[in-house]
Amino acid sequence: MKNKIEELINLLNYHNYRYYVLNAPEISDYEYDLLLKELEELENKYPEFKSANSPTTRVGSDISNSFEQYPHRYPMLSLANTYSQDDIIDFDNRIIKETGEEPEYVCELKFDGTAISIAYENGGLLRAVTRGDGTRGDIVTNNVRTIRSIPLGLQDGGYPEYFEIRGEIYLPHSSFEKLNEEREDAGEPAFANPRNAAAGTLKLQNSSVVAQRKLDSFMYDIYSDNLPYDNHYDNLMAAKKWGFKISDHIKKCGSLEEIFEYINYWDKERYKLSYDTDGVVIKVNRYSLRRQLGLTSKSPRWAVAYKFKAEQALTKIDSIDFQVGRTGAITPVANLEPVHLAGTTVKRASLHNADQIALLDIHYNDMVYVEKSGEIIPKIVGVNTSMREAGSAYVKFITHCPECGTVLVKIDGEARHYCPNVAHCPPQIVGRIIHFIGRRAMNIDGLGEETVQLLFENGLIADPADLYALKHEQLSVLPRLGDKSADNIIKSIERSKEVPFQRVLFALGIKFIGETTAKNIALYFKSMDKIMSASHEELIEAEEVGEKIADSLIAFFKDDNNLNFISRLKKIGLRFEVEEENLLSDKLQGLSFVISGSFDNYSRDELKGIVEINGGKYLSAVSAKTDYLIAGYKTGETKLSKAKKLGTKIISLEEFMRMINNQSNCDDSDEIIVSSTTQSTLF
Ligand code: IVH
Repeated sequence: MKNKIEELINLLNYHNYRYYVLNAPEISDYEYDLLLKELEELENKYPEFKSANSPTTRVGSDISNSFEQYPHRYPMLSLANTYSQDDIIDFDNRIIKETGEEPEYVCELKFDGTAISIAYENGGLLRAVTRGDGTRGDIVTNNVRTIRSIPLGLQDGGYPEYFEIRGEIYLPHSSFEKLNEEREDAGEPAFANPRNAAAGTLKLQNSSVVAQRKLDSFMYDIYSDNLPYDNHYDNLMAAKKWGFKISDHIKKCGSLEEIFEYINYWDKERYKLSYDTDGVVIKVNRYSLRRQLGLTSKSPRWAVAYKFKAEQALTKIDSIDFQVGRTGAITPVANLEPVHLAGTTVKRASLHNADQIALLDIHYNDMVYVEKSGEIIPKIVGVNTSMREAGSAYVKFITHCPECGTVLVKIDGEARHYCPNVAHCPPQIVGRIIHFIGRRAMNIDGLGEETVQLLFENGLIADPADLYALKHEQLSVLPRLGDKSADNIIKSIERSKEVPFQRVLFALGIKFIGETTAKNIALYFKSMDKIMSASHEELIEAEEVGEKIADSLIAFFKDDNNLNFISRLKKIGLRFEVEEENLLSDKLQGLSFVISGSFDNYSRDELKGIVEINGGKYLSAVSAKTDYLIAGYKTGETKLSKAKKLGTKIISLEEFMRMINNQSNCDDSDEIIVSSTTQSTLF
């Protein structure tokens, strides 16, 4: 069985590498999942053969990362930067002078993310540490293990017994956009650019959240006392064989001409990449020359980074709109004289909020510099005040909603102004309907924003519940819609009644309840009724629910309009309960569990999954309502003494397993009821 498990691990690692590193999968996602499930089942059956670096351990755990620090065996330096091609000529001259040789260089893209150093021992991922202050950094191994392009175990052989590989962790544009969409849905501030988002994500305490964010990596540097080659390029190519994601855009350059060709090519082509680059790194290839050149206290003398100028355009503000979002948040948006910037024509740029307008001191008709932040979203970065028209007025933030005239409010601690007329302000209503029908919410096809607007203006819908009363003939007469589209829309509306509860909860558009939070809350409480009757304390027991989210839920359910809305949706037949067929058994029905300490073969997340899939309730802290405390190694003293005081039963993992197996003895671990889907449904 050990061999079979090893075989599956190798096979999964191979397909993982084909998919995440080479971008050339050989099997479908479905086939991959089947293999993964097979491995999970075997590991559950034979926990003694489970390896710490098995692909099944990528899922992340909710154990808090306390970010201990670790010293770098090889210091993590930075690079000398330049924006001038003349400096590259000087760099080359200096190297020729000092070494007496015309060296070979390696040109690479400078990835714009956050640096990481990962140690491998005997082919297994040992530890991942952030740059920190260059001499020591935070241990973020749990988070890094969730990144699919970083191998947990190496392939192909020939790697040193111990080495550290360094690279950049980044968020691809697609993941960045999705993350920001989710944050906006949840009423949370968007990340300014993918770099901030990647750095922030790597420092999250909960690695299952990290896993959801889809970070990626490129490795560009490797350190060991016994590397296979005496030059950088060949070692990187070897690392590629071992399973690391190494950029395909690395080039050996023998002359300055080739270096400039590389730089000029990527200065233009970088916009076509699916991730951010902010320059090119030029490195001496041979280690013997590197040693000769040495280091300064900050950076190696054998490398230099040429930074691309952020492409800027100067254009005029034609007017400023104040847009009202679904949550009532007001966003000032500048309409610009169209200008070409980094491959697209820019006509509008967000000014974010009143503070940003004040910071940039924006006046009407100003000439402004526009940049693409993170190469995606145009952003106004400055004003050319010498071109300011005499007497042009400062852009004052509006005091009343531009759509419904209500006096705006500003909430303490939030940068944005809000229109508080939630029930009647038209763009808020339309925004909520558009959110409700969204792909990740009720997934109602065929109704675009314009159609929703039209239906609203014609008095056919005043909230999302009205969608369910729409008739074919009301739709087919609308512009651009015929019989067939009307049919499809009605069918899609009908189909949405089958959408699972967690997405219904998200579709309601409650402030701060994004897709992931909705899922956590739905799966934790199991039904709308339980969420509605939960106290503040009970709400914050659910995963990832803090004060802000609990307050928002309570405020939402206090409002009669919302209660009425929910009861109409219930009557229509939308799902307001988690479907019971998701459960494997009801053996733990009505029982609540707290899990503390660590366990040999299960992460706490896995155990939590086992509790829930067997109908039990998982609680994060011991309270009078806790029935059992499952105690592992190093169970917290506070939890133990609280459990003793409250009379909570304290049980071992074996006793817990016996409860779900109804067995008198649990030595025969074959019988443990752990669905192979437990883990995949959880994460
Ligand atoms: S080599 C001794 N190569 O740039 C430094 N760095 O300012 C070795 N970076 O912290 C770094 N892409 O995070 C190197 N292809 C690349 C890079 C790269 C991005 C980052 C890295 C480092 C920073 C240096």
